[in-house]
Amino acid sequence: MDKFKNTNIISAIGNTPIIKLNSVTKDIESEIYVKLEYMNPGGSVKDRMGVYMCQKAVENGDLKPGGTIVECTSGNTGVGVALFANTYGYKCVFVMADKQSQEKIDNLRAYGAKVIVCPTDVEPDDPRSYYSVAAALAELPNSFVLNQYANKANTLCHYEQTGPEIYEQTNAEFDTFMASVGTGGTISGVGKFLKEKKPSMKVVGVDCKGSILAHYKKTGEMGEAHSYVLEGIGEDFLPENVNFDVIDDFVVVEDEESFQMTRRLLREEGIYAGGSCGSAVVGAIKYAKSLNKPEKILTIMVDSGNRYASKIYNDEWMQSHDYKVENSKDALDEKILNIIGDNGRLV
Ligand SMILES: Cc1ncc(COP(=O)(O)O)c(C=O)c1O
Repeated sequence: MDKFKNTNIISAIGNTPIIKLNSVTKDIESEIYVKLEYMNPGGSVKDRMGVYMCQKAVENGDLKPGGTIVECTSGNTGVGVALFANTYGYKCVFVMADKQSQEKIDNLRAYGAKVIVCPTDVEPDDPRSYYSVAAALAELPNSFVLNQYANKANTLCHYEQTGPEIYEQTNAEFDTFMASVGTGGTISGVGKFLKEKKPSMKVVGVDCKGSILAHYKKTGEMGEAHSYVLEGIGEDFLPENVNFDVIDDFVVVEDEESFQMTRRLLREEGIYAGGSCGSAVVGAIKYAKSLNKPEKILTIMVDSGNRYASKIYNDEWMQSHDYKVENSKDALDEKILNIIGDNGRLV
């Protein structure tokens, strides 16, 4: 049993598979590969940096034994932090914007965390924003605010862990790395590592309409932010973890096309992923269509679809936003109903 002495849930993070998309890419010559980060134990790529930021905070003496970890999160980073906190005996307080799915709030509460929900549509420096509320909670005794937007351990984690893991799995035998961008940690860390190993590697971010990141990269101007439905990607300010020198270009995607692709990924490829994963694939297809010759593109499936069961995967929610939903009723329904009669309910 000695072999298992030092294992715990943290040691189960990483080594996620990379697979090729086969169906949603039928119309393009380029190949798209996806790294299934939702297979991490907490259900997202953010397990990696959530844990790593905590480890660094302990090493630096910022986080003391039994202390309280405060973080603003769209839901995924919080789970990574909670994995660390529950394993090593810390408390968690998470601050979220009210656009995030109920599943994410319930999930964090299930880990035993305190969860505070703040309005989405206020400026980042408004005292009611989730960034400001998290910063104010630094007043809690024996607490530390991780701040994934500015905390360089976020990018460093992906530079030291996710990037090398991708390199080992692929030998960098692809042309372009793409990722949907929120804090920028994933694209900046993985992108920097891959470029150092293979200078011809291109790094392309996926931003959403309404965010300022792509506009800033293209023009050097801040532009104006607008609200959007996608969770976890795009920003209305420039996070310090977005390294614009590493990112060569951005592709911009919209809410509905991202959600339709998210649903297609499940129906056609069996990939049960979140909305920003649909964005990443839509972005990769748009990028592929802009190329003169086919490429191999690798992107990240950030989080699990079960965080969006009541939204993207729910027909009523889709329809309430005027997003198109295929009619799932077909001839098979009739046949089933004929057999089951009143003995069961076809839902
Ligand atoms: C669902 C989702 N997609 C994408 C991202 C973006 O990742 P990063 O913050 O590393 O840029 C996040 C970040 O929170 C996220 O929650």
